[in-house]
Amino acid sequence: MTELTQSRIWNELKSHSESLPHMRTLFAADKQRFDKMSTQACGLFLDYSKNRATEETLSLLFKLAEETGLESKIKAMFAGDIINTTEQRAVLHTALRAKPDQKIMLDGEDIVQEVQQTQQQMETFIESVTSGEWKGYTGKPISNIVSIGIGGSFLGPKIASQALRPYWNKEINCHFVGNVDATSITEKLKHLNAESTLFIMSSKSFGTQETLTNTLSAKDWFINQGGAQADIASHFVAVTSNVAKATEFGIDAKNIFPMWDWVGGRYSLWSAIGLPIALMIGMDNFREMLNGAHEMDQHFANTPLSENMPVLMGLFSLLYGNFYQAQSHVVLTYDHYLRGLPAYFQQLDMESNGKSVTLAGEQVDFSTGPVIWGGEGTNGQHAYHQLLHQGTALIPADFIMPLKSHNPLGEHHAQLASNCFGQTQALMQGRSFEEAIAELEGSSLSQSEKELIAKHKEMAGNKPSNTILMDKLTPATLGSLIALYEHRTFVQGAIWDINSFDQWGVELGKNLGNDVLSRLNADKDATELDSSSNGLINLFRQQSI
Ligand code: F6P
Repeated sequence: MTELTQSRIWNELKSHSESLPHMRTLFAADKQRFDKMSTQACGLFLDYSKNRATEETLSLLFKLAEETGLESKIKAMFAGDIINTTEQRAVLHTALRAKPDQKIMLDGEDIVQEVQQTQQQMETFIESVTSGEWKGYTGKPISNIVSIGIGGSFLGPKIASQALRPYWNKEINCHFVGNVDATSITEKLKHLNAESTLFIMSSKSFGTQETLTNTLSAKDWFINQGGAQADIASHFVAVTSNVAKATEFGIDAKNIFPMWDWVGGRYSLWSAIGLPIALMIGMDNFREMLNGAHEMDQHFANTPLSENMPVLMGLFSLLYGNFYQAQSHVVLTYDHYLRGLPAYFQQLDMESNGKSVTLAGEQVDFSTGPVIWGGEGTNGQHAYHQLLHQGTALIPADFIMPLKSHNPLGEHHAQLASNCFGQTQALMQGRSFEEAIAELEGSSLSQSEKELIAKHKEMAGNKPSNTILMDKLTPATLGSLIALYEHRTFVQGAIWDINSFDQWGVELGKNLGNDVLSRLNADKDATELDSSSNGLINLFRQQSI
């Protein structure tokens, strides 16, 4: 048994969670519940009143946070302590959005200066491309950017650019290639002209197979389109912490944007990994995004737990996973521009907290990171909300929506909002058997038929949700929102005492994949592996089933 699950507070929470009344009862008992259980900061409004919680629940959760040292762990992260212990690294994505006059010392260096220098390098590059000064090999300006990367080097640039589409530079288009499936790059390149296309190759390690393969294919395409090896420098730039490998790969040293090992891939869009975002929305708007995240950093670091948005959201998620056996958490973005955000939060949280040993290497005896999934509202209501309402699994939900649309049109936004709020209400209050029967009054059904149908229409309710609102989706509110979820993830990992910043679990698949690749290309069938792997490899080699 871990110290955590043996702790008094853990067992107090366990028994407390078994005794809570239905949320309908809690709302009926306190007309001020919404006012008491909502808060705002950094351009975001959080309604957390539709959670299974009383004041006692909250005080127990805050006590758990205090007793597990959350506040000192927050300070340690911001101070640059080596909290990624298995890789002996600091965790300082917050330094990427620090103010220029801040000083953050790491290994004797003020890393804020390095960050500022890289931002200046980004700005100069962006100015050159968007002004038309940067020319392709036939003298044409750049009109298409192809961003090549995967994981945090793909999701961050793609999803943030998609979210900020109203801010895009009108003269340039951006395409994102991640998967090694050739369809991904082929479909993107088939409509492009090499003379006016610029590739941004993003790889923190500069060792990711998919990104290297896609970049080599992009170089082949460029040459086949008429470019020469000598023209590569005008059409390829790289973002990496491994400058030597990028130079060896053939990227001109002056076109390499550095990043650092104290930035995890899934926390890196604030670095030069965000270059495609900054190219599309402009450096001023990119800095607005950084400012939004910086505000959330300050909020997280300096606000008492009871008003601290990342702490509240992290604690509620932990409550449901550890005391109500919730295995997943759904993020529902009621904004088309934010349709990709669930996928971004999926890597952020699942690659951070999908762990099963504590920092000390002890097997956990409690649930850790949930499955994060979701999509855009209202589409989900016509796809999976049935399960949210009447399924057997408890799936806590986050609803995210701007109050104002970038595209006001008649009643559309009011209808979007009515669906968003109506769904959270239905999840909370459900529908009793008596209410279901009453809805069937006047129908031609017999009493027994009514009772049977009512059983099928009954909804337990008491399904928790958070609602996050913002005035409008802007670079600043997007920055705050993403930072909110980064810190929400941190809160859970800190209380569980796991390492949220390494990702050893992704290595084995990569290594075995490299071995399989060699067997696919071998001159004889595979026989040494398990029969399934041998069988699959040999079917591929035969190219027939
Ligand atoms: O999935 C493992 C991972 O290392 C992610 O953490 C990272 O975002 C992605 O692969 C890409 O890594 P790189 O930026 O080094 O190519």
